[in-house]
Parts: sequence; C-alpha cells; structure tokens
Amino acid sequence: MDLTYRPRRLRRSSALRSMVRENSLSPADFIYPLFVHEGSEIEPIAAMPGTYRWTVDALLGEVERAWDLGIRCVVLFPKIAESLKTEDGAECFNEKGLIPQTIRRLKAELPEMTVMTDVALDPYSCDGHDGIVDSAGVVLNDETVENLCRQALVQANAGADLIGPSDMMDGRVGAIRESLDEEGYEHVGIISYTAKYASAYYGPFREALDSAPRDITTKPIPKDKSTYQMDPSNAREAITEAQLDEQEGADILMVKPGLAYLDIIYRLRQESELPIAAYNVSGEFAMVKAAAQQGWIDEESVVLETLLSFKRAGADLILTYHACDAARWLSK
Ligand code: PBG
Repeated sequence: MDLTYRPRRLRRSSALRSMVRENSLSPADFIYPLFVHEGSEIEPIAAMPGTYRWTVDALLGEVERAWDLGIRCVVLFPKIAESLKTEDGAECFNEKGLIPQTIRRLKAELPEMTVMTDVALDPYSCDGHDGIVDSAGVVLNDETVENLCRQALVQANAGADLIGPSDMMDGRVGAIRESLDEEGYEHVGIISYTAKYASAYYGPFREALDSAPRDITTKPIPKDKSTYQMDPSNAREAITEAQLDEQEGADILMVKPGLAYLDIIYRLRQESELPIAAYNVSGEFAMVKAAAQQGWIDEESVVLETLLSFKRAGADLILTYHACDAARWLSK
C-alpha cells in the first residue's frame, strides 16, 4: 500500500510507545479513602473486598503503608454509632468526635500526609441524608450549611488540610470558605464535590457507613438524594456548578462518580484552570472486584486502564479505593 502516514510506526517498540505516551499515572495522583469506626476490631466491608472499617490505631498503620507507596493524600470517612445519630447530625461538630480524634492522631504521627475530610451530615444523620430533613420531608439548605460550616471548622481545627464538601447544598463552598477565613484557617483548602450526581454507584459506600436514607421517624423521608445531588441526565448544569464553586473559592473541583461521567471531567477540564479530581466510587470498585474474583477480568490491567481513563479525560487527581494496589503495580 502507498501510505504516507502509518501510525503503527510509533507503536513498534515499548521504547517508542513510552516516548509518545500522552498520559501516565503516579501514586501522587491518588487520594486514598479510608473508613474508620469506634470499634476495637478491624471489620471487612463485604461489598468492597480488601477495604475495612479501621480502628484509629490500625488506620495509622495503613496510612504509613500508603505513604511508603508514594501516596500523599488520604480522605477519612466515619462510621458513627447509631446512638450518636440525630436529625441535625450535631455529632459532626463534636470536637472530640471520631474524625477530629483520628485527624489529630494522624497528624501527630505523620504530619506530612495530606488529610482530606468529607463534609456532609449523612454519617451523623438518623435520617441518612446529607442535610437536615424538616417535618415535611424537605432537605433544608441554609440551615444545613450552618452545620456544615461548624463541621468544617472542627475538622480544620483538628488539622485537616483539605475540606471536601460532598453535600451538594447551594452556597456551601462560599460559606465554608468564609468560616475558615474568619477563624484563621485561610491556609486550609477546599476540594469541592462540584458535580456530584444522584447515583446508584454509591451503594457499597452507604453499606460501609450504614448511611443510606432511612425512615425511622414519623416524618416523610425522601428515599433518594435527587433534590440536592445532580440529575444523571445533565451535563451543562455541571458547568454552572463549577462556575459557582470557583467564584465561591473552591481550590479543586471534583466529579463524582468518575467512570460513567468521563464526559463531565472532560468538560470541566475545558471550562476551568483549577485542578480537577475524579472520584472512582464504591460501586465502580465493587464491580471490578466482583468480576476479578470470578476470574472474568484481569484486575491489575483493568484497574490501571480505568485510572488512566480519568487522566486522559482531564483529571489531575483520582480518589480511588484501588490507590494502594495501583501504587504497588506501578512500582513493579
Ligand atoms: C457522603 C458521601 C457519599 C460518598 C462520598 N461521600 C455517599 C452519598 O452521597 O450518598 C460516596 C462514595 C462512594 O460511593 O465511594 N455525602
């Protein structure tokens, strides 16, 4: 054949392929999520094989292992005792609560590890919602934001480096920024869950924290989070959310879930100069694990290919339960 251009020329050898590679993965791209509980035993999470509800002590060991693998940021999620859950989620701003305690211990042992937190009421709410639910079953916005600001301050005071509002209330990024600045935490960053969709992919996570919406009071409780999380049909709306978060002072924008929303990552990359993060959520993790356990896919190759897809779409950072495994595979 008489071809001027033969793309295969640059694919001939491993050396050539590595020269023209457009994207790569590094452990420093990863944010490693960890679950912590008050119990005295490490508990495996059934729907997320290889992940655990750590005790505070055991978590410190896991964070050190992650550090040694090159991971530089962890995000903490608490499983709170049922007896501490209330309608206003007030345990989230208890200075002596599980998360502030864990942050203090972690920062004392490994001050250089970046600690990200999650800001939302759901782990602390007896209704399992990210905000306060009123007697008519409406998830209140402005009242919730006041509690979220208190939660963020307690986390910053304990030593958190990056505050991650995952609640999708309107105006929360600006309100949290103002609260942090007023209290002298202007150095603490905000990684906003900017485009967080009302997704079925969060199922295993809600099992891990026992935080799914539930009806234990007499008031009507919305069964899903669609009055605050985004409609999976919408893409332009994600740009509006990104513009608002940027104006309100977000330092990093996150898209969640990741895999079914690569187009959103790509769009935000075009719209904003801020770092973009992708959240490779619990349901995405569980599906890969389940297929790998059946021997239907090769876990290592599928995970690395998936993580690379986030980079290719435009993400700088990837929040993933695969972080430690991926870091190990990358160092081979
Ligand atoms: C809490 C929160 C959720 C996740 C992260 N923070 C659950 C939800 O919004 O219902 C999900 C993470 C995952 O599925 O891995 N607001």
